Amino acid sequence: MNIAVIGTGYVGLVTGVCLAETGNRVTCIDVDEQKVLKLRDGISPIYEPGLESLMIENLSRGRLHFTCAHEEGFREADLIFICVGTPQRPDGPADLSYIEQAARDIGRHLVKPAVIVVKSTVPVGTNEHVKAVIAANSRHSCQVRIVSNPEFLREGSAVSDTFHGDRIVIGTEDDEAAELMTELYRPFGIPVYRTDLRSAEMIKYASNAFLAAKISFINEISNVCEKLGADVESVAYGMGLDQRIGPQFLKAGIGYGGSCFPKDTNALVQIAGNVHYEFKLLKSVIEVNRDQQTKLVHKALERFGSLKGLRVALLGLAFKPHTDDMREAPSIAVARLLTELGAQVVGYDPVAATQAARVLPPEVVYAADPQQALSGSDLAMILTEWPQIRALEPADFRRWMNEPVVFDGRNCYDPQQMKSMNMEYHSIGRAS
Ligand code: UGA
Repeated sequence: MNIAVIGTGYVGLVTGVCLAETGNRVTCIDVDEQKVLKLRDGISPIYEPGLESLMIENLSRGRLHFTCAHEEGFREADLIFICVGTPQRPDGPADLSYIEQAARDIGRHLVKPAVIVVKSTVPVGTNEHVKAVIAANSRHSCQVRIVSNPEFLREGSAVSDTFHGDRIVIGTEDDEAAELMTELYRPFGIPVYRTDLRSAEMIKYASNAFLAAKISFINEISNVCEKLGADVESVAYGMGLDQRIGPQFLKAGIGYGGSCFPKDTNALVQIAGNVHYEFKLLKSVIEVNRDQQTKLVHKALERFGSLKGLRVALLGLAFKPHTDDMREAPSIAVARLLTELGAQVVGYDPVAATQAARVLPPEVVYAADPQQALSGSDLAMILTEWPQIRALEPADFRRWMNEPVVFDGRNCYDPQQMKSMNMEYHSIGRAS
């Protein structure tokens, strides 16, 4: 099929590259000229395992193209994917200005009938609005069919998630469009669930909100475990054996971050509020997460009394491993609070240091490797469970730090082993 993808951000680029890989002719459109030039050279603007090599392969096969010109992308397109960002506005709801712009561009430049597929995460009812905006701006009165096709990719495993996802959701009232989408996704071999437009839009928000709720739930359990002498890792394992609960997203830690859960949970509270429904559970999920992000700093304060003048090594800065994404990373709240408390902060991240320097307080200094971060530090905080950080031996902390005191926000080590090595080790939801 001929496909146009509007937006070469994280979702658009992965979608475009993977659809080219399954044999379609894909043209990705972006307004950023510099970005398009780089993409044409096979340079990915995001760090995503496997993406760049797949991109280069499909560019050389002539199945993948990048352009700034909408008319070029739409000329032959059977399907147009809208994959632009819906960032959070300062007052909570999603900013839909990029969606509106994409809809106007489609209206202006479309010269043949096409199926419009919205992949961006948008509030319930937006797809209908997109259709209306396209019609209002249409120059050639082409027939458009509209489909909501939310994405469930995780950063860091986006390519693999695209090919091995649990389900593909297709929301549309139009049978022909549904058939075309089912055909498009056939090579993926993933179950397709067809529903109506509004339900598909809601499935995306509800799924992210539920996953966020699982994380905040296990984090609260971990806080209670600490007080009662239970071990949250065992509790989560025991809970996860129940198939109705499942083992995933029960990893206690320092809260969720990233570009999706914080934004989408806030947006859903707002969406519900707009129809006069107070989503109490989700509000608590958000509040619990905010408190959990600085949990290690409060543990350190309890242990040291004051952190003024202490050198604190932050190991891992990205919101999770295998990405350089710093959006809403717990490290931001941690570094801010530590700096406010007068600590000297040294950060290490194998990939995200450059991005981190843009958002962490200017006082933070950066180390090239864990040894440099830990050398001379009074305490260490593990914030992201990168393999490079997990690979550190307990003896490394002893060798490089003044007096090793380790606060582990991702439960990377066995407390018993740390104890047997005379290490002071504090983790989440387990006895010290
Ligand atoms: C999330 C969802 O998992 C995807 O299904 C969804 O498509 C995506 O948002 C999106 O809306 O675009 P992502 O934000 O990339 O994906 O990352 P996750 O792997 O879900 O992790 C999110 C955060 O939760 C991370 O900070 C991670 O450390 C934290 N987390 C995750 C936990 O603290 N405990 C867990 O058990 C799992």
